[in-house]
This record gives sequence, structure tokens and C-alpha cells, in this order.
Amino acid sequence: MGVIILYGFFCALLLFSLFKKHWGKPQQRGNLPPGSMGWSYIGETLQLYSQNPDVFFATRQKRFGEIFKTHILGYPCVMLASPEAIRFVLVTKADLFKPTYPRSKEQLIGPSAIFFHQGAYHSQMRKLVQGSFSLKIIRNLVPEIEAIAMSTLESWCGGKIVNTFYELKKFTFDVAVLSIFGDLDSPIKEKLRKNYCILDKGYNSFPLSLPGTSYNTSVLARKKIGQILFEIIRVRKEKNSVQNDFLGSLLNFKDEKGEILRDDQILDNIIGVLFAAQDTTASILTWILKYIHDDPKLLEAIKKEQKPFFEANDGGNLPLTWAQTRNMPLTNGVIMESLRMASIISFTFREAVTDVEYNGKS
Ligand code: HEM
Repeated sequence: MGVIILYGFFCALLLFSLFKKHWGKPQQRGNLPPGSMGWSYIGETLQLYSQNPDVFFATRQKRFGEIFKTHILGYPCVMLASPEAIRFVLVTKADLFKPTYPRSKEQLIGPSAIFFHQGAYHSQMRKLVQGSFSLKIIRNLVPEIEAIAMSTLESWCGGKIVNTFYELKKFTFDVAVLSIFGDLDSPIKEKLRKNYCILDKGYNSFPLSLPGTSYNTSVLARKKIGQILFEIIRVRKEKNSVQNDFLGSLLNFKDEKGEILRDDQILDNIIGVLFAAQDTTASILTWILKYIHDDPKLLEAIKKEQKPFFEANDGGNLPLTWAQTRNMPLTNGVIMESLRMASIISFTFREAVTDVEYNGKS
């Protein structure tokens, strides 16, 4: 059994337990891919954290090929970096693998979040997420999302230099908060933002739980986020109001036996969705801005497409509607093409549930 990392656009996959099972039994290890397992226990974790992760993976890929072994974050892994290998793990032989994350990352998000589960609980959480972020729900949020976009743009005025990705992370955080909680009081939202930023900063740091380390600071911020969310949940339960947002669906959920979700399950899934939604969306928005910036003709064509809606909305005084957003083929084409071109998620993890052989390596 084992873990895998998928890298690149999904260029690499980490196979952890595949090795764990036979650790220390060389006669049963099979034909492992080339690569280095580094030092005992810490493996190559220090090398990974002492350089840009893309350089770490790319140098090994160049040296060993598209399948290589390594040992990071406490796990022996296999890295896969070819479309065929990734299709093998995610599509054709998906039943031989299960989603997994290094424990350090699971601790920061929360063990009950959707990512760390399979089976009935996973399907239930998936349905809840899909329902709360469905077009049916999102279409009603268009005016509020537009208002957040306008206020983000206004905050860039005045000739100051901004970091596009970080600014768009603020924007996607606000949109995520709107979809999860509906209206949230400003002071609570700011407290949540502050602690979520700290958690986010340490998410990819070296997982050393010592006072002062980035990882430990993140763990402490995670605890504070827990307290803030428990309080939000308590107040919402007290009000007993039915709300159409993600928190509302988590609170209303009952499984087939009539069991409701525990507060810690609700909390972990909220942090999970924040985590899944914020960076990914901010990243694609940043790419879209870059592509448009690099192609002035495209920018002009997009403006031309959008101008009639701007004018119909009284120069932006009336809110944008869902129907208008559906009637912008060029704008939508640019979004879809950017999603195709840009590598938003550079790697992910899987754990083999049984011994797996691929291209003569196992
Ligand atoms: C451009 C934006 C996005 C991209 C490129 C993206 C990409 C992905 C990918 C590749 C996965 C699979 C990861 C894996 O299997 O290891 C995933 C999972 C997931 N994403 Fe997104 N995502 C985006 C936006 C969002 C948003 C806005 C949400 C908000 C709800 C979201 C929620 C999730 C959840 C809950 C999962 C786990 C699904 C499961 O375990 O069944 N994602 N995303």
C-alpha cells in the first residue's frame, strides 16, 4: 500500500504506503523506480524546503525521469509526472488509490474535511459542497460578488503598486466567506481573515512544531479559527434561522439514520472549502489578468463585448445579472482557455491501497 504525488498540471503523484508496507523487507519491495530516499526518517524533506519546490521536483525529474522515488514529510513516495501515469492513477486505476495528505497538512485543515475521506461520508460532504456552490445558488449571489469586485478594484486606485495574486486572494476570501456564511459581521470577518492568512502562510512550511516556527504559528492560528467558527456556529444555532449558505446546509444535514454533523465536522469542512476555493480561484484570476494584459487586442475585444451591459446597467449603477454573465461568449471563452493553459494545482497526493505495478515499476 502507498502514497503518491501528482505534479505539473497534475504533474506528480506521491505514493506513500505502497512502500510503507514493505519497509525493511527488501525481498518484497519489488522493482522500485529510481531516485533517492535521502536520510533516514527526514528523507529529502530538508532539500525540498531549502529550495523552490518546482526546482526540487524538476531536477529529480531531469535526473531520474518521469517516475522517481523520494522521501518527504515523513513518507516514502513515488512521484509521477506524465499525463499517462496520472491518468492511470486518477482515472483507469483510480480504485487502487485513495486520497491522502501528509499529516502536517491534515492537522491544519482538520481531519473531518472532505479531502481526507472516502465512502459514504465523502459522498455526503461532496453533495453538500456541490449543492451550496451550484449555479442555482451562485446565480443569486452575482450582485453581491460584483459589489465585492468593485470594492476590490476601488482599493487599488491611487497609483499604488499591488501584488495581484495577494489582492485577488483577498477578493476570493470575501467571496468564499459570502458563500459559506452569507452576511458575516465585519469584525468577525476580519478576525477570521487575519488568522486564515497566518494559517495559509504556514501551510507549505517545514512542519516543525516548535515555538516560533511558521508551522507552529499556523497551528495556533488554526486553533483561533476553530474558536471563531465555533462561536459563529453557536450563534447560528441559537438563532435557529434557515439559511441557504454552506454553513446552513452543514447545519441542516441529516444522514439516512437521522444523525446530524458534529461541530468539529462542520468546522473542518468550512476550513476545507476555504482552502480549496481561495488559492485556486485567485490563481486562475491572476492568470486571466496576465493573459489579458499581454494581449491588448484581446482586452479591447472583451471591453467591446461588455460595454453594452455596462450601458444597459446605467453605467454600472444597476447590478450585473446572471443572464448578462451568460451572454458574454468571448469573456467566458477567455476564462475557459485560461483554465486550460494555466497550471493551477501543481501537485496532489494519493495513497495506494494495495501493491501497484506501473510500467514494470512497483
Ligand atoms: C479554478 C478553480 C479551481 C480549481 C482549478 C480546482 C481544482 C481542483 C482539483 C484538481 C481537485 C482535485 C484534487 C485531488 O483530487 O487531489 C479539487 C478538489 C476539490 N475542490 Fe476544487 N478547484 C477550484 C475551485 C474550487 C472552489 C471554488 C471550490 C469551492 C467549493 C472547490 C472545492 C473543492 C473540493 C471540496 C474538492 C474535494 C472534492 C472531493 O474530495 O471529492 N474547488 N479542486
